[in-house]
Amino acid sequence: MNKQLIAPSILAADFGNLDRDIEMLNNTQADWVHVDIMDGRFVPNISFGQMLVKQMKSKSKLPLDVHLMIVDPERYVDSFKEAGANIITFHLEATNHAHRLIQHLKSIGVQAGVALNPQTSVEQLDDLLEDLDMVCLMSVNPGFGGQKFIYRTLDKIRKLKAKIIERNLKCMIEIDGGVGLQNAEEILKAGADVLVAGSSVFKSEDPELAIERLKSIEINNFDI
Ligand code: DX5
Ligand code: ZN
Repeated sequence: MNKQLIAPSILAADFGNLDRDIEMLNNTQADWVHVDIMDGRFVPNISFGQMLVKQMKSKSKLPLDVHLMIVDPERYVDSFKEAGANIITFHLEATNHAHRLIQHLKSIGVQAGVALNPQTSVEQLDDLLEDLDMVCLMSVNPGFGGQKFIYRTLDKIRKLKAKIIERNLKCMIEIDGGVGLQNAEEILKAGADVLVAGSSVFKSEDPELAIERLKSIEINNFDI
């Protein structure tokens, strides 16, 4: 069984000390840096853009996992790739041409992910799964850090994992929102491969330890 990947969400970091926080992640067992881009239209909040991603890239030894919570993602993927994104995840709800955009992401050499809001069912992915490197299931309504995990997500993870296994695909499942030590084991048992963790890492007293604990959880079989 593959070890889970841990992707701390930089949204919860201290932006006055961004270099310090990225350096901290460089020296932990974190696998990726999760980078939330919000446009104030797809979601109610605005975060930051390509300039800051470029700055993060210059300091980070870890791959950047860029989560676009923006309308018309096709307009911006090239510039986020140029800024240093290794994985780009866009929302299925934000475009009419997900299939085309996935092909485009592959053609520019980034890993392709699709995110689903809590109300969007995993069946919507049936015709895309073959081409995807990752599906990000939102376990909160996107837009803000520090929200409560929506437990119905566990069913979605199980359903999606079953499809991936049955079709023998490589697509990873990432869970984003409200993830911490209190629920990580259940989420992994349901079939998740990547845990995004914002508040539970950066707002904890010892972020390095929080990452280590999430990374060291061992799962022997899926509960699907
Ligand atoms: C929510 C973002 C998440 C967020 C997670 O819109 O996509 O990545 O930063 O933060 P926590 O872990 O605090 O829920
Ligand atoms: Zn995110």
